[in-house]
Amino acid sequence: MTDASSTPAMPVTIHRGDYRPPEWQIPDIALDFALGIDATRVAAALSVVRHADTPVPLVLRGDGLTPAAVRVDAEVWNDWRLDGSDLIVDLGDRTAATVEVDTVVDPASNTQLSGLYASNGMLSTQCEAEGFRRITFHPDRPDVLSRYKVRMQGDKAKFPILLSNGNCIDRGEEGSDHWALWEDPWPKPSYLFALVAGDLVVNRDSFTTMSGRNVELGIWVRDGDLDRTGHAMQALKDSMAWDERVYGREYDLDLFNIVAVSDFNMGAMENKGLNIFNTRYILADPDTATDMDYDGVEGVVAHEYFHNWSGNRVTCRDWFQLSLKEGFTVFRDQSFSADMGSPAVKRIEDVRLLRAAQFPEDAGPLAHPIRPDSYQEISNFYTATIYNKGAEIIRMMATMVGPDRFRKGTDLYFDRHDGEAATCEDFVRAIEDGAGIDLTQFRRWYEQAGTPRVAARVDANAATGERTLHLAQTVPPTPGQPDKQPMLIPLRIKAFDLDGGHGDEAERLVLLDRAELAVPLGPYRSRPMLSINRGFSAPVIVDFAREDGELAWLAAHDDDPFARYEALQQLMLDTLVAAVSGEARANDAVIDAIARTLEGAGEDPAFAAEAVLLPSEAFIGDQMVTVDPDAIRRERLALQGAIGTALESEWRAILAGAAPPAADLSRAAKGRRRLRGVALAYLAATGMADIPALAFKTFSDADGMTERQAALATLAHGDSDERVAALDIFYQRYRDNPLVLDKWFQVQAWSLRPDTVDAVKELARHADFTLANPNRVRALYGALTGNQAAFHQADGAGYRLIADLVIALDPKNPQTAARMIPPLGRWKRFDEGRQRLMRAELERILAQPGLSRDVTEQASKSLLG
Ligand code: TRP
Ligand code: ZN
Repeated sequence: MTDASSTPAMPVTIHRGDYRPPEWQIPDIALDFALGIDATRVAAALSVVRHADTPVPLVLRGDGLTPAAVRVDAEVWNDWRLDGSDLIVDLGDRTAATVEVDTVVDPASNTQLSGLYASNGMLSTQCEAEGFRRITFHPDRPDVLSRYKVRMQGDKAKFPILLSNGNCIDRGEEGSDHWALWEDPWPKPSYLFALVAGDLVVNRDSFTTMSGRNVELGIWVRDGDLDRTGHAMQALKDSMAWDERVYGREYDLDLFNIVAVSDFNMGAMENKGLNIFNTRYILADPDTATDMDYDGVEGVVAHEYFHNWSGNRVTCRDWFQLSLKEGFTVFRDQSFSADMGSPAVKRIEDVRLLRAAQFPEDAGPLAHPIRPDSYQEISNFYTATIYNKGAEIIRMMATMVGPDRFRKGTDLYFDRHDGEAATCEDFVRAIEDGAGIDLTQFRRWYEQAGTPRVAARVDANAATGERTLHLAQTVPPTPGQPDKQPMLIPLRIKAFDLDGGHGDEAERLVLLDRAELAVPLGPYRSRPMLSINRGFSAPVIVDFAREDGELAWLAAHDDDPFARYEALQQLMLDTLVAAVSGEARANDAVIDAIARTLEGAGEDPAFAAEAVLLPSEAFIGDQMVTVDPDAIRRERLALQGAIGTALESEWRAILAGAAPPAADLSRAAKGRRRLRGVALAYLAATGMADIPALAFKTFSDADGMTERQAALATLAHGDSDERVAALDIFYQRYRDNPLVLDKWFQVQAWSLRPDTVDAVKELARHADFTLANPNRVRALYGALTGNQAAFHQADGAGYRLIADLVIALDPKNPQTAARMIPPLGRWKRFDEGRQRLMRAELERILAQPGLSRDVTEQASKSLLG
């Protein structure tokens, strides 16, 4: 006899073109949970209605479930069978029925963190994308929307708090048990179902909506964490007000709950009326969270809240439409954070993330359009492309039509599709109709993968002085898409006139809609300073050869802060790429430009801190034909040291005064702390003898985590006694706070020291390291893959460590294991020796028996290149 579960099935590829509407709908669902950590009994009653014209069996998906009993219209039913893990119920020629299925699940042994699982003695769910089928049999596709009624019962002492979606309509006690009945009036797909049971405390507040309704707000955490929930609560209220003001969207239930969980695969989840969060994006106080952590909390709270409209009220027809909710919601949370803080700094951060995470994805073997055509495992498609490039696509539409017309478009979208499971095409059509724009060509952004390149050049007519900007676009081939059509690329441009003959041009929006386009700029006596793709109006790479003098001028004078940042970054990149390729090149232009930026730092220190930061090692590598990680590290450190030395007194002056009090979270205070961190890093790169002592003093004097972590990270790069002391003090002080302990692992994996791979190997054996917690895994191994020279150590030790991790983690948590693979897939960008080592590790992973679908898909696609 063959055991079906031990023979890995060939991965099945799902195609977007195969979509068929569901044959059965389920208007109502009643779920009854008898809660237990090792065994939870789930009784599901589905009221099913046939939408197919002719009799078809009801297909309910399951994952790891066995039906304990099946009833149809209250009668015991035997006309069912299991097809693989799916339950097929034959309902004859019925057009409607009530189908009841009982199952039992074991939350304690659910290490995948998908479905119903136990975390620190509490029960919690994660159903997106396909986790509901791990709780009960169900079609589990987002175009099946139901009203849910959930009864949950459990031991009062173990589970004092019982939460689910919607409103609590009844509760009671039964011996040592108690129960609660929850009802969610809004039809929703199964991926938005949630349930939490445990010993939790609440931060309560309320919000009055624009129509005057009162909404009760609750943030639920473990005892001891309550005083770290204030920032999340403020962010929630700010988000609710912002969505009313900017999009006209009001919250639609009387209750909005958030629960923080420490074991969580992603950032957070937008379950209707009951968001579930990674503790990392809820808990913050000045002693334990950095300013960046604070911004992360605000952004993710907003993101999940905004999903209530962009995702929940209007959901996705199928998972190929994922960017419909994610791209739009990221755009909304980015806009919110920009409004709450500094738009220029927020834009710089968003573009930096896009370039660090999405551009490499788009240039590698896992490249896919924001609306993919096929997948094997949908969890692998929660990518920077779907989220961050998706947000850029929405942003381009908003840029082309302006805020008022964009609002007309989104109003029409919400109005037309409220209560529906919609498609990306529905969104584009609503913007076309509401905003009055033809997006025919623009739709290619949904179809074609790969980052477009735009080559720019300006020429002059010697007789007339007429200048012309020549633009040419190419979209690179990507897996399955060898030939590309020209995209519609909106470029904000502005020409600055240095000698007054013409005058500065007003900014204009050039729509590059063909392979080549000539844009007349008018007559100029001398070459104008041209600022292109201002504000990063399109997610493209602009190749525009400019001299240092031009870039320096733009870095100092452009009136668009993002363009100033870009010009300085380009100047640094040009200098670094030349150095890495062995060209002798002076650093003066970079040093002068940084000095000038620092002179203006008083007005906006956060902007200055961002602008003077050298490009990352990975981004320098992206500019090269073959990445040379060691030369990049060497030259980047050399330039950093040269800048540190040349501007020593400036950096020391920044550090001289006291840091702003950690509790001061104003924009100015955050900006000053950021600049101090940058100053310390520049000084550290000089190797001056007093730096470890200075960093240790900063570490010891710090009254908050921003300064403390920055100083610790600086020390961690070096080899001083202060390094050992600071790491030890930090560990002793925070060993009981998991989120802060993550930082302790992370700074060591980020270290520029040559022994970092060995250190990571050692840290993986530390008593506080565990594969059971995704945050801890990311803090150690995720940080290593972000440390280019360490991960790409020439002997392949970094690759081996990551492959070992994937192999060890896959049986426990395939979603998180699969997320560690893409760095190994970038082999094509490296020399032959590294290519061979990286491919060998991918092959070793694929040779493991019983590999998950998640890891199989990522590793096999990565190997194809
Ligand atoms: N929808 C969630 C968000 O973007 C993402 C998410 C949370 C998720 N948990 C997940 C996706 C687990 C896949 C698997 O906010
Ligand atoms: Zn989201």
